[in-house]
Amino acid sequence: MPKDFLTVADWPADALWSMAERAAYLRRNHRTGKRPRTLEGRILAMYFEKPSLRTHVTFEAGIAQLGGHAILLRPEQVGIGTRESPEDVARALSRWVDCLMARTFSHELVENLARNATIPVVNGLTDLLHPCQAMADLVTIAGVMKPKDATIAYVGDGNNVANSLINLSAVLGLRLRVATPASHPPATRVMGRARELARASGAEIRLLEDPIEAVRGADFVYTDTWTSMGQEKEAEDRRKLFRPYQVNAALLAESNDAYFLHCLPAHRGEEVTNEILDGPRSLVFDQAENRLHAQNAILEHLLSA
Ligand code: CP
Ligand code: NVA
Repeated sequence: MPKDFLTVADWPADALWSMAERAAYLRRNHRTGKRPRTLEGRILAMYFEKPSLRTHVTFEAGIAQLGGHAILLRPEQVGIGTRESPEDVARALSRWVDCLMARTFSHELVENLARNATIPVVNGLTDLLHPCQAMADLVTIAGVMKPKDATIAYVGDGNNVANSLINLSAVLGLRLRVATPASHPPATRVMGRARELARASGAEIRLLEDPIEAVRGADFVYTDTWTSMGQEKEAEDRRKLFRPYQVNAALLAESNDAYFLHCLPAHRGEEVTNEILDGPRSLVFDQAENRLHAQNAILEHLLSA
């Protein structure tokens, strides 16, 4: 098994399915007030180069609920690359804490930290990937129907969330359609590996430009912000470019009465209308809830090895 959780593409399908099942079990327990102290005394360092609500709160609350503790590190305090090299930061942290979760701009930085740390490193979002989100999405989909029976459509920007959904589908053998403008497709590096994984798993992954073609007959329709963290200067151009990809009642009418998914934060009136986000088929707060339990399952898995 890999030491780290940097991308779901590195993990075997049975491990991902078992983490998703464990997450659903932890969610049931949590709702009835049961908190197994499986991470008693374990310490997680959390390093954030970008803002966060869900990732920060769910990692910190999650490890505390399982008996552990989290330490928040800010880039201005650590100074990776200015005060100290990433290699030395990784080596020092490995002597004190049990796990590192990092949210960085550069995916290569998380890979570098993981290579040099002897403790597990968890990717809390990079410009390339958001694997913890994909695991929460799996738990959410599995709460409604068998993921292998579902047709999932993602429309919008070919970003980190789309890339991780592609990886997840490729490993698990899911049916996924991704519609993006030709100028903003999923990452080539991700697609290359996903095609290989899909050959083994039987996944059906289609890249499209037409959002209607993507959502036609879909059971789940997923979108994300048109302007990811770090792209704020492009926001105005992106609003124009992605306008045809808005998830609204007209687009969803083409689907199989699809459930709506969004990793949040949402930009209401941009990538999704209020009617859909707040509508009866929206699962967005289940997804947010599932971040807690999916990550607890990941942490248990990494730290029990
Ligand atoms: N979905 C997600 O990762 O949210 P945050 O950016 O608030 O952590
Ligand atoms: N694609 C978004 C996801 C936020 C959770 C971003 O990177 O900003």
